[in-house]
Amino acid sequence: MKINDNYLKLKSSYLFSTIAKKVREYEAKNPDKQIIRLGIGDVTKPLAPEVIKAMHGAVDEMACEETFQGYPPEYGQKFLLDAINDFDFRRLGVEIDNDEIFVSDGAKSDTGNIGDIFSVDNVVALCDPIYPVYVDTNVMAGRSGDALDGGKFSKFVYLPCLEENNFLPSLPTQKVDLIYLCFPNNPTGMAITKDELQKWVDYANENDAVILYDAAYESFITQENVPHSIYECENAKTCAIEFRSFSKTAGFTGVRCGYTVVPKALERDGVSLNGLWSRRQATKFNGVSYITQKAAAAVYSQEGRKQVEDTIKFYLNNAKVIKEGLVEAGFTAYGGVNSPYVWLKTPEGMTSWEFFDFLLEEVQVVGTPGSGFGPAGEGYFRLTAFGSAENTKKAIERITKRFKK
Ligand code: MLT
Repeated sequence: MKINDNYLKLKSSYLFSTIAKKVREYEAKNPDKQIIRLGIGDVTKPLAPEVIKAMHGAVDEMACEETFQGYPPEYGQKFLLDAINDFDFRRLGVEIDNDEIFVSDGAKSDTGNIGDIFSVDNVVALCDPIYPVYVDTNVMAGRSGDALDGGKFSKFVYLPCLEENNFLPSLPTQKVDLIYLCFPNNPTGMAITKDELQKWVDYANENDAVILYDAAYESFITQENVPHSIYECENAKTCAIEFRSFSKTAGFTGVRCGYTVVPKALERDGVSLNGLWSRRQATKFNGVSYITQKAAAAVYSQEGRKQVEDTIKFYLNNAKVIKEGLVEAGFTAYGGVNSPYVWLKTPEGMTSWEFFDFLLEEVQVVGTPGSGFGPAGEGYFRLTAFGSAENTKKAIERITKRFKK
């Protein structure tokens, strides 16, 4: 018997598990300290009243023989697919068929699982820094080559996102097959314009590459020229798969629901990727519960939409408080305008983890070290806007008091 020894190339624990463990240990030793958590991007506001109402209604339906539902349709209930289609695509002038949408338990699973339909020989291009799931799942699959000193892997193509390029990656200079893009970006909080994204679409079409586009944060977009979907770009349906999530949009981090769009026009090696993903999902996934899909559909109702938008505005205001507070105190900070994440430079030459330890121990604020998102994140730190207004304000006061110039 042999194990999948690709796993041995990974750090022993997932970034957010490592952070949670450190915080638990600190808490156990310092039970009297009040810790403020602005680390993992987990929401704090409860589900919208319309969502709760829909869930209660669905529970009642499940309690009755006439309306009870067993296995859900493999790829999503029609009422949810219709709502997604109308609101997320048709409204933008994008034509997507319902059978191009695959409802799932979230974008983390889908971005992690999508590799199943691609050969292990494909060359993977990744922004650096980036959401660690894309990196780790490709290591697990055997696409990474060897782990190098400094946190990189020999076969990945890294696309640095730095201050110099306004945190936007440049097109690869060598042949790549799979390109992971996430906009608005996790972790930098920076967005891409439609014209810039079009360059990636053109590149992928010309070079037979596939873009895996994570749009989990699209509902935080506030600026006009920023696309909500990659399919707003011309010819994206022949080169891009898009991932969406209800987690940050509607507070579903615990409920779990998202969806992935695999256009039928997207073919490689003469094979439809839509067909491959349908086959993969039907085999390895059993659909999302009726109650959850009812909850997700309620997000698109008129009242639901309004409630969810109010919550997003609330988080965006937290992001503003974080960013403005930091900048006023002399920090360099990015993001937070089309995103719930603020990306700041660590002060006084501290490494990302030194700053993490400092904040935890000195002011009891938890953030995420930039280097956890990749080597180019070293010297940076991420704070999320998903806390309460009170804690957000308090956290920034605590941090800036220590560093005010
Ligand atoms: C994050 O903090 O980067 C996210 O919460 C992770 C996730 O969505 O899985």
